[in-house]
This record gives sequence, C-alpha cells and structure tokens, in this order.
Amino acid sequence: MRTIEDVYLERCYIGEGGKPVPAFWTPKPFSATPLTLYGDDRLSVREEWGVRETLELIIGSQLELEISVKDFVLEAARGDLPTGQVWKPLLKSNSADENRHFQGFEYAAAVYPVPQEVREKCKAIAVRWQDAQKRHHPLLVPMVLEVGVFLIALGVLRIVGGRALMGLAAQIAEDESRHTTTNVSALLALGIDPYHPPQDLEDLRRDTLEVIVGGLDVPERAVGDRLNLDFLMRASDELISTGDAQDFTDISFVVDRHLPFEIDNNLLYTRAV
Ligand SMILES: [Fe+2]
Ligand SMILES: [Fe+2]
Repeated sequence: MRTIEDVYLERCYIGEGGKPVPAFWTPKPFSATPLTLYGDDRLSVREEWGVRETLELIIGSQLELEISVKDFVLEAARGDLPTGQVWKPLLKSNSADENRHFQGFEYAAAVYPVPQEVREKCKAIAVRWQDAQKRHHPLLVPMVLEVGVFLIALGVLRIVGGRALMGLAAQIAEDESRHTTTNVSALLALGIDPYHPPQDLEDLRRDTLEVIVGGLDVPERAVGDRLNLDFLMRASDELISTGDAQDFTDISFVVDRHLPFEIDNNLLYTRAV
C-alpha cells in the first residue's frame, strides 16, 4: 500500500549520505499557441464560448492564489502535524512548489495578458480566501482550494487552453495531485473531516468557481456536456465530498504521458493514503 512516506519519496532524489532531497519542476517561458480543443489545431474554439475570458480569469486567479496557498501550507507545516517525520519536509516542499506554479502562470500571463479589471476581480477573491484562513485549520483552506477550485481550473485548461496552457496545466497537476493527497491525508490523520468542509468555505468555493468559470459555455456537440458552470460545479462538489468525480476523471488525470484509462488510481487527484 502506498504510504505518506512514498508520496514524499516519489518527488525526491537520493542525495549525499542517502538522504532524500526534493526535486522541483522548473517553469520556462513559452509562446502562445492557438486556443483549440484538446490542443488539436484543427479544432479551434469559438469567440462566443467565453474561452478567452475564462482563461484570463484562471490565469489571474492562479496568480493571486498560488502564493496564498504557499503561505497557508507553510503555516500548517509550522503547526501541529500528525505523528511521523515525513509531514514537515513533505509540506514544506509542497509549499515551495507553489512558487514554481506562480512563475509558470506569470509566463502564461506574459503571452495571454490578463486585463487589470480581471486582476482586480481575482484579487478580491483571494482576499476572501486569506480571511477564511484565519478561521480554520491551516490545511483546510488550501485543501478546499486545491481540490475544489484548482483541479477544475487545470481541467479546463487541459481542454480549451491550447497546447501551451495544456502543457502547463499537466505539469502543475502532477504537483497538485501530491498536494491534495497530502492535505486530505493529513486532515484525516488529525481527525478533521476533509469531505464536509465548513459552510463558509463551501460558499467561497462555489462563489470562486462562479467567478472564474461562470462565463464558460462550450456547446455539448464540441466537448460533451462538461464545459459549463453546472457540470464543473457538480464535479467540484463531488471531488470535495467523495474525493472522486467519475465524469470528470478523464480531464483530471495528472500526467500527460499516459492515456486516462492507464492511470493508476494513486495518480488521481484527491486520493488519501
Ligand atoms: Fe499550486
Ligand atoms: Fe498546490
């Protein structure tokens, strides 16, 4: 059975004296690619589907929230943790991933600019999450954000982001898989129920999704009934309450080297160990 130690070791190389040392992804600048479905240049997206605005909101909100999550998780790493030596280095390295994600989204914003009014809207959302952090266990807020919002946002990038943003999303999703596994597992070990977050966090999760993907409406004939607020909200609800969202699995897998049906269950986002 996979353990939390495995989760940490999977991201490490063995350094001097046989000590595990975390390895990090290094984001690089990239060029814009056409906005297409599934990165297929023959399937371009239509202006009226709201894709461009949604991508701006996703990039803008990640720019605001990645660093918040970094701080939240660091706060948790300094507080009471479940027994076991692995939690602190695991949480610290997870937290350090968020700097890379932020950098990745900065590169994204360099080629898909985010208008100032969109940045303001995203900033207002981030302030609400920062306030929520003061009221809850420090891992609960990042868990709800990563499972219920980031996962959905990354899934959307994978379908309509074009090749460049698809690649970025896949790379970040690998880290988010570890982060959600860590946070859900830690909360369970601490006796805090991750599957039924307090009402204020649930409201905030739903409000956030409404802001960032509420304008998306890709017709069913193009991608099936999935890129609209109703579907994405349902997927988010299910991911939070069960750790799984069956209808969403084929866009939430975390590595791009495999076909979805080849993915080990451990690599789906929200599995606890
Ligand atoms: Fe992140
Ligand atoms: Fe994360």
